Amino acid sequence: SRKPIIAIDGPAGAGKSTVTKRVAHKLGLLFLDTGAMYRSITLAVLREGLDLRNQEQVTAIANASKIQLFNNPVAEQPMRVLLNGEDITTAIRSPEVTANVSAIAAQPAVRAILVKQQQAIGANGGVVMEGRDIGTHVFPDAEVKIFLTASAKERANRRYADLIAQGQIPPDLTTLEHEISERDRQDSTRTHAPLTQAANATLVNTDGLSIDEVVATIINLYEEKV
Ligand code: C5P
Repeated sequence: SRKPIIAIDGPAGAGKSTVTKRVAHKLGLLFLDTGAMYRSITLAVLREGLDLRNQEQVTAIANASKIQLFNNPVAEQPMRVLLNGEDITTAIRSPEVTANVSAIAAQPAVRAILVKQQQAIGANGGVVMEGRDIGTHVFPDAEVKIFLTASAKERANRRYADLIAQGQIPPDLTTLEHEISERDRQDSTRTHAPLTQAANATLVNTDGLSIDEVVATIINLYEEKV
């Protein structure tokens, strides 16, 4: 029997990555940022110069892409990501990848390929997995399910600070808020595994909460249920 799984889903910029890493670190679990996998395929497709809507070619790229993810022991850093052996940790955070990832993630064949890998990684449990569909599709039997959200304005502010921290030049806040809302709209309205709160997920609105408060909330839920 597998160890427990914590599923953390929610819209862009709600703080999932930071919270996921800290919860995993505190509980001694692995973490997996599934968005990094969709970003990796998007990068591969963009590099080939393919039409993103050509599902046959996109699927071929997804099948040919070996994605390796490493938990970074430095809790504040993103997962290290290799694509066919090349380190693409930084490249997958580019504005071009961010702007195009939802179109790739909407394709059922791409989702089937990546969900299978995510299920294999989590097969023994003991993992905190974050994304859009973890509690609804990838691990519908996860012991703890969180739907992490915040207002679009708050999420734009955080993304702005993140981009600066990553050494990128952020667009202005209004543009960022539009981009985030547009990505959420695409992710929530797609046909396959759209972004939605699982019926048995706990909603955590992080507006005005510190990271530590959010982490403590999730750890309490975990200790109640496990
Ligand atoms: O989490 P992040 O913002 O990096 O995710 C990038 C994109 O990957 C999302 O906007 C969404 O289109 C897609 N995604 C998904 N399912 C997941 C994780 C991410 O469709 N489980």
